[in-house]
Amino acid sequence: MPTLTPLISESDIARRVDELASAVSRDYAEAGEIVLIGVLRGAFMFLADLVRRLSVPCRVDFIALASYERGSDQSSGVRLVLDLRCDVARRHVLVVEDIVDSGRTLHYLLKMLRARGPASIKTCVLTHKPARLDIEVPLDYVGFEIPDRWVVGYGLDYDDRYRTLPYIAAIDPNDEVTPSP
Ligand code: IMP
Ligand code: MG
Repeated sequence: MPTLTPLISESDIARRVDELASAVSRDYAEAGEIVLIGVLRGAFMFLADLVRRLSVPCRVDFIALASYERGSDQSSGVRLVLDLRCDVARRHVLVVEDIVDSGRTLHYLLKMLRARGPASIKTCVLTHKPARLDIEVPLDYVGFEIPDRWVVGYGLDYDDRYRTLPYIAAIDPNDEVTPSP
């Protein structure tokens, strides 16, 4: 079994999500309505907890993106898998992401959304690995800055597993044992 090292407890997440929700509610108090865009699949749990604590009216929509395999000739490295259903033109948009690693996913997404003419666009990310960032992206609300480790839980996965853990842990995939045939 791989080793899971707990990094952020359930109660620390809850406390921080509360703080982020208060900041978002305060900043958007005059905005009328915001559209929260959850980036699938990793942000589903964070978004669900965040929206329940917001005191501003909001809509919720989802988008799914995927990274190209290494060696692909696509310069962005990111492709759209599932688009929004709502039109974001003239709306206040808040992108909700689980993690910013290199920044490529968020960079691609912001560029795409800006072209659709929103009234404003901001980002709310649960975790951020500053050591890994190679494209500058605006981070308006950040839950936790984390070390350069692969993290799982609270929506974040390793090979589509561990998403449902209620806390965030670092995983060492090298400890993974291959099941014998
Ligand atoms: P980017 O490098 O900032 O574009 O991040 C790409 C995507 O990789 C993120 O949206 C996550 O889905 C995934 N990712 C990056 N680091 C981690 C991690 O530590 N755990 C789980 N997913 C991660
Ligand atoms: Mg993600």
